[in-house]
Amino acid sequence: MNKKFLALLSAGALTATLLAGCGSGGNTESSTAEPSGEEGATLTTIESGKLIMSTNAQFPPYELVSDGEGYEGTGYEGIDVEIAYALAQKLGLELVIDDMDFDGALLAVQNGKSDMVMAGVTVNEERLVNMDFTDSYANGVQVVIVPEDSDIQTIEDLEGKKIGTQRGTTGYIYCSDTPENGGYGEDAVTGYEDGATAVQALMNGQADCVVIDNAPAQEYVKANPGLKILDTEFANEDYAIGVAKGNTALQDALNTALAELQADGTIQSIIDKYIPAEAE
Ligand code: ARG
Repeated sequence: MNKKFLALLSAGALTATLLAGCGSGGNTESSTAEPSGEEGATLTTIESGKLIMSTNAQFPPYELVSDGEGYEGTGYEGIDVEIAYALAQKLGLELVIDDMDFDGALLAVQNGKSDMVMAGVTVNEERLVNMDFTDSYANGVQVVIVPEDSDIQTIEDLEGKKIGTQRGTTGYIYCSDTPENGGYGEDAVTGYEDGATAVQALMNGQADCVVIDNAPAQEYVKANPGLKILDTEFANEDYAIGVAKGNTALQDALNTALAELQADGTIQSIIDKYIPAEAE
């Protein structure tokens, strides 16, 4: 196993440890919370009666702008949109989706502009400094998209190449890291506005490859003939919902609702609807 992959693996292990730490521990961390009160009953959100979700709806199949009315009239569709809608219903709140760039979506929750960020957000060490996360509801894998005739065959071959990523994402963070840490250095990496723009740069020859989450990668490759995804995975990640640091009331309520939606199969059926192949 090569050094880079090991470095990424240990980052993954750290995430897992941190997740376990803030995961199913339940109400141990907040002695003032109602032990088993009805979710929503005592929940304070930014706008009363509403659950504001910041996102970046340029990330199919997790969130995308709909051509039509969108899921339940939200104007958006995707895995996160449907799970968020189900969560809001459980909490007795109206879901409000606020679409912005990915960096902004992460910041919104930290600045009290949104109640939660749900955007295929990977839990990592840096983000845990500034926000709290729910339990994980999905898994993501960073993969590499290249033109079919590319000389890039493995992750090793990325050295010296122009790497495209989405700005502010873990793909950018890994790739722009120093070579000692398993990255390729900042100069090698461009952070594009979103995944579609990064893939456009790849199609134009401005980038040699794109490092991005597997599910959108599949969509982009389907939509753009002449591209393929390398077999080698770059990193394995957990997606979770971000809330403001210390907002244990919302974090706990979301975790309870998520657990119910896991238990009754709702989450898996939403994922299967958008990613049929994942029904392994
Ligand atoms: N999982 C990656 C991250 O957390 C990419 C998420 C991008 N999401 C989006 N809606 N654009 O950094």
